[in-house]
Amino acid sequence: MLQTKDQQWLHDVIGRLTAKMEWVSEKSRHKIPYTTVDGTHDDRAAHNPSGDLADGINWWTNGFWGGMMWLMHHETGREAYKTIAAISEEMLDRCFEEFYGLHHDVGFMWLPTSVANYRVTKNPVSRRRSLHAANLLAGRFNMAGGFIRAWNDLEEGDTRGWAIIDCMLNIPLLYWASEETGDPRFKQIAMKHADTAMDAFVRPDGSVNHIVEFDPEHGGVVRTYGGQGYEEGSSWTRGQAWGLYGYMMSYTHTRKDEYLQTAKRIAHYFIANMPEDGVIPVDFRQPAEPKLEDDTAAVVAACGLIEIAKVVGAYEQRLYLDAAVKLLRVVDERCDWTQASDAIVQRGSASYHNKVHHQPIIYGDYYFMEAIFKLKGNDLYLW
Ligand code: GLY
Repeated sequence: MLQTKDQQWLHDVIGRLTAKMEWVSEKSRHKIPYTTVDGTHDDRAAHNPSGDLADGINWWTNGFWGGMMWLMHHETGREAYKTIAAISEEMLDRCFEEFYGLHHDVGFMWLPTSVANYRVTKNPVSRRRSLHAANLLAGRFNMAGGFIRAWNDLEEGDTRGWAIIDCMLNIPLLYWASEETGDPRFKQIAMKHADTAMDAFVRPDGSVNHIVEFDPEHGGVVRTYGGQGYEEGSSWTRGQAWGLYGYMMSYTHTRKDEYLQTAKRIAHYFIANMPEDGVIPVDFRQPAEPKLEDDTAAVVAACGLIEIAKVVGAYEQRLYLDAAVKLLRVVDERCDWTQASDAIVQRGSASYHNKVHHQPIIYGDYYFMEAIFKLKGNDLYLW
């Protein structure tokens, strides 16, 4: 699948990944990292920086560390990775007890941890956790609007009608639950959400909205928001990547052709907007200055592009693969492979209007790793 010139590079990156993860996994074995402080992983299981219910142990990124461990276990066969993955999976049980901090991101949290564990080991406790999380997600479905509610806020703003494009990565938990139990309800909800989002989020040019507000009582779009992008109507790049990869996931689980066509449409928009140097901005429609970048958008998009390449003909395949390899090579050049940082991908941006930019964020490392193993043809599909 890879061009000869890229094969040596891929081999070298995998060498760097395995060397770095061997010591980082031990150093951070009892943590659930989100970012780094002076090069050292922080720990969202132990600290809640904002005091918000959805932060701390309930933080939406808390599944990625476990997911990295499962990917590394699959690649290397090293038992230690499995043990470390189980530590974070068990820590997440606190979220079920607390409950109030949980929202639609239960897919991001339990697919790469308990579903991954169950897929690999058939551990019944992991199955129970995964089905519990899937039921929480299904319970967020709004019947009138045909969408899954994103967040829980009522006091700081009424989000009863809000859905976000990122949810396309949560609904594979529902596909998994139907595949596992034979009960079609979960898949029905997932597909209804994906269908609603196709109309409401994906614009004619292939770009996507981040947030859409529906009327929670009667359905129908009320308005859109710029969310983590520059402004309403702009094009937050990680959101484009969530849409691209997310629709590909829905296609993988259902084989509904419209999902593949939607993933391709978003991919074409993404590729057409990739700057010459391959460095992805935080928003494709942001002002020229400041030059804010987000390598996490690049690696999520690369995963989706590689998945599209797997299901199209040989001629089409090149377009998607070449774009994915370009994105990953650029990110690789900007990674930290030394012991100065516990993180690999260094230039992530959580959102355009955040104060902090160009920082390591755990999903940068997770999706970089996933994309690299996909290129090798040895990925453990956790979605
Ligand atoms: N799912 C939230 C984000 O991508 O930052």
